[in-house]
Amino acid sequence: MLKIGLPDNLPEYPEFVKGIRRAPSRGMPLNKNQIKIALKNALRYIPKHLHNQIAPEFLEELITRGKIYGYRYRPYGDIKPKPVDQYEGKCLAGKALQVMIDNNLSFDIALYPYELVTYGETGQVMQNWMQYRLIKQYLENLTEDQTLVIQSGHPLGLFLSKKDAPRVISTNGLMVGMFDNPKDFAVAAAMGVANYGQMTAGGWMYIGPQGIVHGTYITLLNAGRLYLNVPANTNLKGILYLSSGLGGMSGAQAKAIEIAGGVGIIAEVDYSRIETRYNQGWVSLICKTVEETFETALKAKKEGKAISIAYFGNVVDLWEYVVNNNIRIELASDQTSCHAVYEGGYIPQGLKFEEARELLEKDQNKFKEYVDQSLKKQFKLIKEMVNRGTYFWDYGNSFMKAVFDAGEKSIAKNGIDTSEGFIFPSYVEHIMGPICFDYGYGPFRWVCLSGKDEDLRKTDLAAMSCIDPNRRAQDRDNYNWIKDAEKNRLVVGTKARILYADEEGRVKIALKFNEMVKNKEVGPIMLGRDHHDVSGTDSPFRETANIYDGSNVMAEMAVHCFAGNCARGMTLAVLSNGGGVGIGKSFNGGFGLLLDGSEETDKIIKSALSWDVIGGIARRAWARNEHAIETAINYNSREIYSNITIPQIADDKLIDDIIGNFK
Ligand SMILES: NC(=O)c1ccc[n+]([C@@H]2O[C@H](COP(=O)([O-])OP(=O)(O)OC[C@H]3O[C@@H](n4cnc5c(N)ncnc54)[C@H](O)[C@@H]3O)[C@@H](O)[C@H]2O)c1
Repeated sequence: MLKIGLPDNLPEYPEFVKGIRRAPSRGMPLNKNQIKIALKNALRYIPKHLHNQIAPEFLEELITRGKIYGYRYRPYGDIKPKPVDQYEGKCLAGKALQVMIDNNLSFDIALYPYELVTYGETGQVMQNWMQYRLIKQYLENLTEDQTLVIQSGHPLGLFLSKKDAPRVISTNGLMVGMFDNPKDFAVAAAMGVANYGQMTAGGWMYIGPQGIVHGTYITLLNAGRLYLNVPANTNLKGILYLSSGLGGMSGAQAKAIEIAGGVGIIAEVDYSRIETRYNQGWVSLICKTVEETFETALKAKKEGKAISIAYFGNVVDLWEYVVNNNIRIELASDQTSCHAVYEGGYIPQGLKFEEARELLEKDQNKFKEYVDQSLKKQFKLIKEMVNRGTYFWDYGNSFMKAVFDAGEKSIAKNGIDTSEGFIFPSYVEHIMGPICFDYGYGPFRWVCLSGKDEDLRKTDLAAMSCIDPNRRAQDRDNYNWIKDAEKNRLVVGTKARILYADEEGRVKIALKFNEMVKNKEVGPIMLGRDHHDVSGTDSPFRETANIYDGSNVMAEMAVHCFAGNCARGMTLAVLSNGGGVGIGKSFNGGFGLLLDGSEETDKIIKSALSWDVIGGIARRAWARNEHAIETAINYNSREIYSNITIPQIADDKLIDDIIGNFK
């Protein structure tokens, strides 16, 4: 019998390392009866004889932090990912998944490491430290015949399965429809039964902001091409980009605009995040006044220099300044955490970061009032700049939805509701969707589990050799990206790399890597991707924003992607609620595939990795997306055992004529 459980003695209460960011309390939504249940729920993990000692501490955490994190059970200090062979385990997958979890929780990577939040303000790896300890024990005991089942961070147990089944199947925050809303979710989360896994936090596949830099770089380049007619073979030299956020994902903007050759101004209200990005070399300089910010930016723009400036302050101050001083901004967006706009993700103008945190804790109604005012003002300023020629797009952070919810109906296309979308473009609907996802290009990534720089270098070169830069503009961008990846010093945390690739590219690269593992040229590798991809996510305001056949309200693609990945033997398969845009607004899933050099893994690459992209291509093609149809037809022509159903395209004139006669 396996002995899994927490120790008989209470661990020492940990000291919180000074300077490490802590998640704010967002209030405690439970009534007395629910508090009782929450306490009993947390105590399920603790040996019974310790209940009277730990229960008051858990109650205190619940009241003061809004959740029971079980801080006492957190390992001391920083949780750094180690090389895979330094972990205990009965199989390589069990050890490899521990690397992935620890990487998501390390001080370098996690936004609020003590609260198990990796990124996106509230995205947790699991709900509490008791779960962390148990999952670790299970992974140490996992064999190649078993599957660990995780529900919202809770390890339900280890069960007999088979070698070519996933080693871990995990779900996060999947609520029953009528409860699938932020309010009911907050109650379930405080009771300790629901985890908001974001995308790669609960999917254990976050690799620091590098994971986003590539996507941001592609988005910026293509926005320049689409809106400013920048030629496909040049960069963004002399173009000014204004945005906000130097957090988990938003932190990528500064680096991406520099790599793309432009000038970026990114506002950030939390100085500690500016320091983090600056120390990592992700932002070139810091300015504390609006005047200095624009003086520096405009000079660089004139000289054609690529720089990124972190402005310490509120983004609304920047917008106010550009409107009043009529400064030309070519490209602009916003990456405050508007998906959690009333939970502290957006700091209203006029409040310092700490003041906003205090208000959020004391008076949530007042905080909401301030947020609404600030959002409406920001919208008006942006609209004015758009009228003067700025290209603004929503960066998938629910900014436009938040402005609408704040009461500014004019941001909706029809001025009434969101059914016809918004007046500004959004980056997936107009940029990433048609240019990348419909072809199958998405944020493929890998982690060199040995932790060695040389392994990453070898894999970069191998991946580069798999790309033909002359096939499409996207391939050229991806080729240039991987060619310069090491030079651009993108790694934070474990040795990982992101590389946008399509289905053919991903399979080719994965087979090549597996061969390198087999030949002992490199150590084992974990493949994965962001959930924000071709197939993994159904999200009408983001990933599936360019689906126009009415199926953008369905979540079946994400569920099939997950089910198909389980059936085909991915090492890790995950399905989560809400990633990026908030609870009830999306379903998203991802995977992990351990490359161990075996022939079995080659088979899984050919079936699972291919399915992981092609399922989405098939759905996008059926939704009549032009490039997806092209990709699907190409797939059908080269496949013997698979086939995608291709839609017949009705003639618009025929439909209009018939409907015209309809009485
Ligand atoms: N980068 C991408 O490719 C991408 C893709 C999809 C969605 N998003 C969305 O972008 C948002 C940001 O993600 P994140 O992981 O960086 O979140 P985050 O919470 O780590 O970072 C957001 C940052 O914005 C700052 N901020 C808040 N209000 C501000 C204000 N008024 N002025 C200036 N700074 C302010 C916060 O201090 C924080 O550092 C999320 O909603 C996410 O879902 C990003």
